[in-house]
Amino acid sequence: MTGEPRSMQRRTIRSPPSSAEGQCVRIDSLLEDDEQRSLARDALEGLRRPRKQMPSKHFYDSRGSALFDQICELPEYYPTRAEREILSTHAVEIAKLTHAAELVELGAGTAAKTRALLRALDDQGALRRYVPIDVTSAVVEDCAVALSSEFPRLTVHGVICDFERHLRHLPASGSKPRLLALLGGTIGNFTPAGRVRLLREISAMLAPGDHLLLGTDLVKDPCVLEAAYNDSAGVTAEFNRNLLHVMNSALDGNFDPASFDHVAVFDEQEEWIEMRLRSKRKQTVSLGALELSVHFEEGEEMRTEISAKFTRRRVESELESAGLAIVRWFTDGEGMFALTLARPAT
Ligand SMILES: C[S@@+](CC[C@H](N)C(=O)[O-])C[C@H]1O[C@@H](n2cnc3c(N)ncnc32)[C@H](O)[C@@H]1O
Repeated sequence: MTGEPRSMQRRTIRSPPSSAEGQCVRIDSLLEDDEQRSLARDALEGLRRPRKQMPSKHFYDSRGSALFDQICELPEYYPTRAEREILSTHAVEIAKLTHAAELVELGAGTAAKTRALLRALDDQGALRRYVPIDVTSAVVEDCAVALSSEFPRLTVHGVICDFERHLRHLPASGSKPRLLALLGGTIGNFTPAGRVRLLREISAMLAPGDHLLLGTDLVKDPCVLEAAYNDSAGVTAEFNRNLLHVMNSALDGNFDPASFDHVAVFDEQEEWIEMRLRSKRKQTVSLGALELSVHFEEGEEMRTEISAKFTRRRVESELESAGLAIVRWFTDGEGMFALTLARPAT
């Protein structure tokens, strides 16, 4: 493990069996009740602004993750299908280009699409360890256990943490070279400044010979974009309102989720989809744990997610500001989504 402040608590939730037999799974958590403090801090900061906002990572408790998985299967939500197509077409090439012995995945979720990549890397014979990282503990635990039985040659080391705060405390590279993946367009949930900050931290984790695999949704017809976030089955709306359920349970809140409408619009200037919750009426909500009352006017909106859309030029320039250079640019057949393989520039 790398240099870690004394206050950083690592809880081992599951250790590998001492015998040589059985699954090799280890799961650590860096969150403790720090997770709740981050929600509290973000709520205190975001709900007292003139234009209310919350970071999208707080959607993802177990229910939020399950709703996200349902979104991925919706007919309107093309990004997952497009990224899966790219991965199944190019996984072998990515394995050959990277020779990765370790795959570290930030925001892995259930790692549904990652299997194609793991299979290609495992078939190549170099892969030793998979490190799925996510803020949702049950998701990391289930994913790590499932993958370790699907890939018995692999050591799976799940880490429950917030990759915005804990990257420096991740397990040191086990085997080299390392491939770090950030899929699903998750990088688009950050503002341009936040993206460069995160990409710089990622870049600092890469040595010569290591790679980054970055999934980005691409700029396209706003109607296609908006439809993807306004599905007819209302799953995205439920996912959006899940933030209110999360705040109710973790911060002793009394949000009435039914009194907020789901809104998702494409901001053409920023080139991002913005998800918001719009109050149907004038109301005051209390968050008991924070001794905070939050007033909403009728029609007032709270921003809950941005999902930036990219061009190749933007990806290239943001990677460059983080000291990374493009090795390959892959897109699906319709040019909806891109996977970029990058390496340290020097
Ligand atoms: C858009 S989903 C993508 C999931 C998966 N990678 C995929 O491509 O389908 C974002 C994932 O990142 C996780 N996540 C978001 N912010 C995070 C953070 N700051 N630290 C750790 N995990 C985070 C969420 O819990 C969720 O599983």
